[in-house]
Amino acid sequence: MLIDTHAHLDSPKFDDDREEMIARAREAGVDAIVNIGFNRETIPTTMALAEKYPFIYAAVGWHPTDAVDMKLEEDLAWIERLCAHPKVRAIGEIGLDYYWDTSPKDVQHVVFREQIRLARRLGKPIVIHNRDAHEDTVRLLREEKASEVGGVMHCFSGSWEIAKMCLDLNFYISFGGPVTFKNARVPKEVLKQVPLDRLLVETDAPYLAPHPHRGKRNESAYVRLAAEAAAEIKGLSLEEISEITSENARRLFGLPR
Ligand code: NI
Repeated sequence: MLIDTHAHLDSPKFDDDREEMIARAREAGVDAIVNIGFNRETIPTTMALAEKYPFIYAAVGWHPTDAVDMKLEEDLAWIERLCAHPKVRAIGEIGLDYYWDTSPKDVQHVVFREQIRLARRLGKPIVIHNRDAHEDTVRLLREEKASEVGGVMHCFSGSWEIAKMCLDLNFYISFGGPVTFKNARVPKEVLKQVPLDRLLVETDAPYLAPHPHRGKRNESAYVRLAAEAAAEIKGLSLEEISEITSENARRLFGLPR
């Protein structure tokens, strides 16, 4: 039994075979999936998936690369309304992205801060996207008191030093495809040190496919490969790591057994 804590199964990349892909995930033992809606296009499609499948849950938020497109007041109110939906379990993915640089940093900061404040007001955990912005992400989480609600650092790529700060802020650390890559020295080192009760696995499908599917389309069934890598690094069985990470996911997102 596994939980894919971060996926984009509403992506057009699945338009030809979405049903079959979701069926493969179920056959691979995926018990629940948290699908992420992160902008004007993907929030409605995420909600539609969550309404269609009982085992698919939703997180909704505004992605930092799309920060310039956000109508702050209006879209915050939209996200707030959606948070009342029983399948919406978190706000995200939100955060900072200094890699793509499609939205100015100051705009990203405002959008990020406002959504942390909303999450605190609603008592929802946060799903964090952080690319090449480790220090500022941690600083803003700290300044906005995100530890009150906690959440998950999705597809974590930082150092152990950064991971420690995130753990101190009441966040879980999630690993996906990259931790299966042979040359992924840092993520493997960090995973080794993350306490078992704060560890999650994910796919980020259709992106970041694990070995041996690297470079191809990712799908939720492959969360098993990330779990296998985590089991090996932690010196546990796949069964043990699946049980531990699923329990963590249920605790964080309030998912039923
Ligand atoms: Ni994502």
